[in-house]
Amino acid sequence: MPFIIAIDGPAASGKGTIARALSQHFGFHHLDTGLLYRATGAKGGDPVAAARGLTPADLARPDLRSAEAGQAASRIAAIPEVRAALVAFQHRFAAQDPGAVLDGRDIGTVICPDAEVKLYVVASDEVRAARRAAELGADPAQMLVELRERDQRDSQRATAPLRPADDAVVLDTSDLSIADAISRAITAVDLARQGR
Ligand code: DC
Repeated sequence: MPFIIAIDGPAASGKGTIARALSQHFGFHHLDTGLLYRATGAKGGDPVAAARGLTPADLARPDLRSAEAGQAASRIAAIPEVRAALVAFQHRFAAQDPGAVLDGRDIGTVICPDAEVKLYVVASDEVRAARRAAELGADPAQMLVELRERDQRDSQRATAPLRPADDAVVLDTSDLSIADAISRAITAVDLARQGR
C-alpha cells in the first residue's frame, strides 16, 4: 500500500513548500491539488465541462499562480460537480508507489481520509499576506483582503470546506523558518512511519 501524506490549510500557509520538501525527502510523488482548481477556473466557459476535460497542457499554463487565478479557482471550487470531476484523478495520483504527498483544502477530510499522516498548516493572516505579497510582488494590504476573502469562501462552502481533519496534526508556521517548519513536518511523518 502506498504511503499517503495529506496536507491542508489556507492560502499561503506554507503547505506547498512543506509538501514539496516532504516529497523530496521521502521520495514520494507530489500533487498540488490547487493547480487543478486554478486550471479549471482559468479555462473559462462552463466550469463543470472544464473540470471534466482537464488536460496536462491546462495544468502547464504560465498564468495559474496569479491572485486572479486563485480567486477564480476558489469560486469554481464551490461547485460540487466540479469537485466530483476532479476526484478520480486525485485518487489515481495518491495510489502511486511508494507514496504521495497531496496538498489542498480537503485532502485529509474528503480525498484521502485514510492518509497515514495529515498535516493542517496554518499561519496568521498578516504573515500569510506578507509572504504571498513578496512572492507575487503585490501590495500586502491588498493581499490580506484577497486571502481573507478566499479563505472565507473556501471554509464556508457546503461541499468539502476547508477544515482540519479530526486526526490532523496542526502546524503553525507563523514564527517558524522554512527549515524549521519542514523539519517538524518530517518528524510528524517519521513518527507515523514507525507506527505503521
Ligand atoms: O492552494 P491554492 O491557493 O492553489 O488553491 C486555489 C483555490 O482552489 C483555493 O482557494 C480553493 C481551491 N481548492 C480547493 O477547493 N480544494 C483543494 N484541494 C485545493 C484548492
